[in-house]
Amino acid sequence: MVYILDMNDEYSILFDKYLKLSDEKKALNDCVFKAIEDSFGRKSLDILDVGCGEGKLSSSLAKEGHKVSAIDVRDSFIEANVNFESIGFFEYSTEKKFDLIIMAYFLWELPLYKWDDVFLKCSQMIKGGGKIFVVDVCNEGKFDNIFFEFNLIQDRESQDLQDYWERYCEKKCAREKKINFNSSLTAANPSDIYEAIAFFFKEPLLKDIYIKNKQEFIDFFERKKKKNGKIILTSKHALDVIGNTL
Ligand SMILES: C[S@@+](CC[C@H](N)C(=O)[O-])C[C@H]1O[C@@H](n2cnc3c(N)ncnc32)[C@H](O)[C@@H]1O
Repeated sequence: MVYILDMNDEYSILFDKYLKLSDEKKALNDCVFKAIEDSFGRKSLDILDVGCGEGKLSSSLAKEGHKVSAIDVRDSFIEANVNFESIGFFEYSTEKKFDLIIMAYFLWELPLYKWDDVFLKCSQMIKGGGKIFVVDVCNEGKFDNIFFEFNLIQDRESQDLQDYWERYCEKKCAREKKINFNSSLTAANPSDIYEAIAFFFKEPLLKDIYIKNKQEFIDFFERKKKKNGKIILTSKHALDVIGNTL
């Protein structure tokens, strides 16, 4: 089954609720900045942020002095200094070559048969010695396993993405390094957590399960409460550094 997320307004509203309680964006930024320093030192880079979303990462990279281009099929709220184009990745065309192409939480939205084309296109847009950062397709452990506990993602392709991605890297000899990082979702109230994770359940089928299991969810989060009354759900992410060997 190929699972493609419909990134419409409802998703954005739901995702904003998640971001209010999660430090995921900060965790992503910190990890990307560290990986840049490890791979390139402190020089200013030509960067392309593919599927930039609302563009927080692009903006902070530009503020650090990098020359940032960013694309997304949706209109974004990117600040000045970022060369943003509202266009699909496969339709995007440029004469420019980049030191670094970032795909954060992007690949998992594409059908698997498109991945080869993604990397082929990247390899044509990258300078010698350039890198690709892929974040999150190999996400290990989803929110302390609530998904497994509730058996929610059994049939979703996204559950198999980690395996697929590992095999893909082996086959293509593409990965130079894998850097794991964590993010946390913190709240005092179980129903806040319940609402914050609603974006995961946006598809009609999952939405049904989500609504039917409301009380079970709330109880589950109640049990997760720490002594200080806080509920903290951690999620593991990974940033893969891919060399231009594709
Ligand atoms: C999960 S969001 C991640 C956004 C951002 N990179 C971040 O880390 O928050 C994935 C983004 O990819 C965009 N996207 C999906 N398919 C795309 C395509 N074919 N070309 C360009 N952008 C695409 C979506 O519109 C969405 O903003």
